[in-house]
Amino acid sequence: MTTGVLCAVRGPAETVVVRDLTAARGRFEVTRRCADLAELLGAAAAGLGTVAVVSADLPGLDREAVDHLRGSGARVVVLAGDRDAGLAHLGADAVVAAGGDVAQAISAALAAPDRTSARDARLGARLEARAEPVQPAPRAPAGGTAPPGRLVAVWGPTGAPGRTTLAVTLAAELAAELAGAPDAAAQDGRDVLLVDADTYGGTVAQALGLLDESPGLAAASRAATTGRLDVAALAALTPAVGAGLRVLTGLSRAERWPEVPGPSLDLVWRAARDLARWTVVDTGFSLEQDEALSYDTRAPRRNAATLSALAEADVVVVVGGGDPIGLQRLVRALGDLAEAGVAPGRRVVVVNRLRASASGPRPGDAVRGALHRYAGVEDALLVPEDRAACDGALLAGRTLVEHAPSSPVRRAVRHVAEHVGRVLAPVASG
Ligand SMILES: Nc1ncnc2c1ncn2[C@@H]1O[C@H](COP(=O)(O)OP(=O)(O)OP(=O)(O)O)[C@@H](O)[C@H]1O
Ligand SMILES: [Mg+2]
Repeated sequence: MTTGVLCAVRGPAETVVVRDLTAARGRFEVTRRCADLAELLGAAAAGLGTVAVVSADLPGLDREAVDHLRGSGARVVVLAGDRDAGLAHLGADAVVAAGGDVAQAISAALAAPDRTSARDARLGARLEARAEPVQPAPRAPAGGTAPPGRLVAVWGPTGAPGRTTLAVTLAAELAAELAGAPDAAAQDGRDVLLVDADTYGGTVAQALGLLDESPGLAAASRAATTGRLDVAALAALTPAVGAGLRVLTGLSRAERWPEVPGPSLDLVWRAARDLARWTVVDTGFSLEQDEALSYDTRAPRRNAATLSALAEADVVVVVGGGDPIGLQRLVRALGDLAEAGVAPGRRVVVVNRLRASASGPRPGDAVRGALHRYAGVEDALLVPEDRAACDGALLAGRTLVEHAPSSPVRRAVRHVAEHVGRVLAPVASG
């Protein structure tokens, strides 16, 4: 069978590539010689080829573009220039050195496992594993450095149920736990990293009293997409905001959400796991697949950051509001989350702002009963309404752990942190 090849190769190398492929006796047919990335993406979207051979220095080529090509059904072979090194960040199916055997690289790309949208694949795998217990995260090679850190996504439906409050306090709690842990294993020198990935209006910087001009997640995404994000680069973007706690702030203005493309976040999570023992991610509320709404697979996806964090997370903390509307939204949200591939064994349900005025004289029993009846949740954790402590912490720009250490809300979040640790215990001992 002849393989249709799209070529977007710069300079004299183009003639060489086309000649070599034509000489390969009917195995390949160069179906389009593209002048630029836009033409290549268009040709791939039109299904004109099953492989794209692209110069590493083609203007605009980045991880997102490679992801889109693959999403259009084309495997991607990158042709490295003499001075190109470290092209792994592009996520191509094969890389061939200047003057190398392009036909062989195409065969290798075609034989490589199907990585069509790595995130979707991961979500799919998780969907299949819905009833399975938590899977161990990959470990560092024997004799290597510390194992990858854990990633916790804090998510919840619309209506400001307290995702940011939970994420900030949970991160501070985990940092405090690490600082106080007696065993040497816990003291590997790595911090807790709090990431604001809410593309609808992140408020982590404000909650911590930081200037919202800090470069944050958009800068980390940019560095990832151009292959410059490593542990040192991520550390430079994440100021310490307390003992053992770093923060990667979010978008300073919500309309800048296209600056956080999904494919680059995979690399951000990877660097985060190397940098921090725990990464806690505050996410947006929506799980809608944007491209399904717009029918434009090239369009940036506003919910990509949330979906990417949920797919990557070892544990998802789901936060709902402790009032009738909040609970109803929570029940629906749990269904949406299951559809997105987050298995019950991988989530912790938290009902926040629990209060008798909204749920009756015994609010805990009422909420637990409703969640059991309508969502089959047996082990929801409850966080009480604690206006004084939350307002005080916000006003001071400090975490609840620092500002109101003995407040009911902080004590309840400590319980959430312990629970998260228990959910992950089989992983740690596995
Ligand atoms: N347990 C609590 N008791 C009292 N107030 C709380 C509690 N949890 C959160 N709040 C307050 O509720 C408001 C919304 O909380 P938060 O910003 O954490 O919600 P969110 O889900 O992140 O909202 P958004 O959709 O804006 O991202 C804040 O003023 C916060 O201080
Ligand atoms: Mg928030």
